[in-house]
Amino acid sequence: MTAKGHPKAITRLLLHLHPKKVNVQAIKFNRTFGLGGIAALLFVLLFISGMLLRFAYVPSVKGAYDSIVDLQENILFGSILRNLHYWSGMLLVVVSFLHVLRVFYSQSIYHERRKNWLYGLIIMFLVVFSNFTGYLLPWDQLAFWAVTIMTNMLSYIPFIGDALADMVRGGNEVSETTLLRFYHFHTGLLPLLMAFLLSVHFWLVRKSKGVTVQKMEEKQMVDTNPNLIYKEIFTALIVIVALLLFSMLVNAPLLEKANPLISPNPSKAPWYFMGFQELLLHIHPGFGIFVIPVLVTTFFIYIPNIKYPNLNVGQWFNSEKGKKLTILSLIFSLVLTIAVILTSEFFLDLRNWMPNIPVLISTGLLLLLLYFIPAAAFLFYLKSNQKAEKIDLVMALFTIIITAYIVMTIIGSLFRGEGMHLFA
Ligand code: HEM
Repeated sequence: MTAKGHPKAITRLLLHLHPKKVNVQAIKFNRTFGLGGIAALLFVLLFISGMLLRFAYVPSVKGAYDSIVDLQENILFGSILRNLHYWSGMLLVVVSFLHVLRVFYSQSIYHERRKNWLYGLIIMFLVVFSNFTGYLLPWDQLAFWAVTIMTNMLSYIPFIGDALADMVRGGNEVSETTLLRFYHFHTGLLPLLMAFLLSVHFWLVRKSKGVTVQKMEEKQMVDTNPNLIYKEIFTALIVIVALLLFSMLVNAPLLEKANPLISPNPSKAPWYFMGFQELLLHIHPGFGIFVIPVLVTTFFIYIPNIKYPNLNVGQWFNSEKGKKLTILSLIFSLVLTIAVILTSEFFLDLRNWMPNIPVLISTGLLLLLLYFIPAAAFLFYLKSNQKAEKIDLVMALFTIIITAYIVMTIIGSLFRGEGMHLFA
């Protein structure tokens, strides 16, 4: 059967990605919010617009900035093309993140989907890394200093930090070698890797018989075409039109040409790394850049291996109680994170209060405990007073971590000014 009203080639391509029949529950919009599909569409848009941008872009310190200005001012539709690529890239970070929340909170990462969660974590890393390598390419003040800050942060990793930062930059400062390195990652290796991993990701979704549906939901199968295909084409059209309109109205940022001698005040990392920059304002870098990220990543990787007695695959928050406890955890983390940030900013001076104790302990371990002890007490309260089950506790911990990162990102991006002072 061929659908009328839209090109046959697109229908055929979409049909190849799907089975002939799909569960009627699986294609309801609020099952996935179309997030995985929108992310896939954004990847395709980025690929196409990126290929076109390559015709205009000059990957050298001398030529990069001028080539972007030339593209924006003198090439027909050049500005829209650049904006479309920029905003699609930013949106992909947001949509992929929301997709992670969707699969996590709808219990869609267990049993046969465990592997896809792990592939997904690598894809998320690649999405962010792709965005970050693209960030440098315009070679303006924003790009240069954001990448300088981020690569400097790498050097805080114990033992290998300096060598790693030098390897990423191709020297001890951001230079033409860094630009070339980022250019090749951004336009070559990363898109290739992502295309490969996304193919595996889609194949694993098919292998798990599509997206999760709840056990008790009626299992009525319907034809993929037109039931799912029409929804996908409709969503894709809305996303494309909205992105085009936005790209016509809002320009991607471009400051003056990079000047390694003058750093803007404040110098900020790209917004998705602002959580780290905020964290580093409070805690010892060994903890901020190494201990905490390693602990959190290990927890994320480990989650699907945990055995739960009452797991309701496909059910949002696992149960009504799970939903209530997740909201409670969100509020708790919101309050605790803001309280710890304000305390550390305005009251604590651990380094000077304990001059004889190594800074790794005073500004590292002690500060971590300031957050960790109330969080552990809260989880204990959920378990003993609210009769939280193991799955509820895992969701609570995940929520606390994600909320803390979002709060730090917002505070770092919007509430810090000159000298990175709060409310400046
Ligand atoms: C560019 C990035 C990504 C694309 C294009 C993508 C695409 C998709 C699509 C199309 C689906 C099926 C429909 C849906 O759930 O919306 C899916 C499912 C899934 N994705 Fe992703 N994904 C991406 C990133 C991620 C990340 C970062 C994770 C986790 C860390 C992840 C984990 C999963 C899992 C576990 C499923 C199975 C869900 C289920 O069966 O209900 N994905 N993905």
